[in-house]
Amino acid sequence: MMDDVLLKLGQNVSHLMEVNRAIDEAIILAITNQQGMITFANKKFCDISQYSQQELIGQNHRIVNSGFHPPEFFKDLWRTIGQGRIWKGEIRNRAKNGDLYWVDTTIVPCLDEKGKPYQYIAFRVDITARKHVEEQMRRLDQLQIAGQISASIAHEIRNPLAAIQWTLLSLSNDAADREHQLSLVQAELTRIDAILTEFLTLSKKRESVFFEIDLPDLVCCKTVDIVAAQARQQGITLDVEVHSVSGKVWGDEHQLRQVFLNLMKNALESMEVGGRLTVRAEQTHDSSNRPCISIAIADSGCGMTAWQLSNLERAFFTTKPDGTGLGLTVCHQILHSHQGALNFRSQVGEGTTATVTLPLYESSEGTGGNV
Ligand SMILES: Nc1ncnc2c1ncn2[C@@H]1O[C@H](COP(=O)(O)OP(=O)(O)OP(=O)(O)O)[C@@H](O)[C@H]1O
Ligand SMILES: [Mg+2]
Repeated sequence: MMDDVLLKLGQNVSHLMEVNRAIDEAIILAITNQQGMITFANKKFCDISQYSQQELIGQNHRIVNSGFHPPEFFKDLWRTIGQGRIWKGEIRNRAKNGDLYWVDTTIVPCLDEKGKPYQYIAFRVDITARKHVEEQMRRLDQLQIAGQISASIAHEIRNPLAAIQWTLLSLSNDAADREHQLSLVQAELTRIDAILTEFLTLSKKRESVFFEIDLPDLVCCKTVDIVAAQARQQGITLDVEVHSVSGKVWGDEHQLRQVFLNLMKNALESMEVGGRLTVRAEQTHDSSNRPCISIAIADSGCGMTAWQLSNLERAFFTTKPDGTGLGLTVCHQILHSHQGALNFRSQVGEGTTATVTLPLYESSEGTGGNV
């Protein structure tokens, strides 16, 4: 009887050892304690990270952090596993020699009898090759999009060029006439310049520089102040109250400024003389219940028809004689890269409210690394 039990136990142990060996061959494995300290790393983890077991054990996973993911990414990870739930995702890490690698990661919390995690087991699979292929595909897509944009740019620039050509061909001998015709040429050249400036903003490979930004401050001091002079000139009353809400966001200051400048410029252009421009901040939640800050820019201008509203996301859509129709395209592109949104409410003859929503940024305390 005892022999049978021992035999069975022996078989089970050797079975488990087989499974263990197979997992060890296939998967990058790490065990982390409650505080985020590595307590076990298998050979595959050492191979991919180029650190020895001695170098890894006792360290925080920040040792392989590549700085690619925003702090919010790791906060979400810690929140999930801290609540005893499994986290899955793709992480870009950095090996000892600086090489970057991607791992498809599943982190399973081990729970004590009270349901509280006492350690975390992370299973990772190297997906660097797949990520490279995806990146190449993305570049191809971008090239295709660049081709389409170039075609529409060429189309847009042809119109003012044709106008210039016709004007020059019919240049009059009369001095007064000629002055008028040359001013038309000048206006068309200014328009080409404006189209090209916006186009460069859209296509420029400027690296985004993300920092913690106080959004009400940025709106108040770095955008409203700039449009104030123009508003005064048009006799428009500015009513700005954004500091009632504290709103830190994670973003690129230059790009976010551009969003608010474009929206305020549109608001001022919708009102000829007189009127009111109201800017308000509010704390809200987005569709996935993340805490957000909304900034609403409301004008009492001409408003938009349903047709205009449905065309707002189209590049080059403009109803203005001197507009390029790229202002809102730039706004959408920037907000997309900030996980934000832009919505419009408008009534012809009454005015328009443009609302920018951005996720609030909570700085992370001690959870900046992965597990
Ligand atoms: N606040 C607003 N009130 C009324 N119409 C608006 C408002 N904002 C945008 N629009 C409409 O949306 C169109 C597109 O706006 P967008 O900012 O993209 O280009 P634009 O203002 O025409 O040109 P640009 O910004 O390049 O000078 C405008 O031409 C206008 O018809
Ligand atoms: Mg505009």
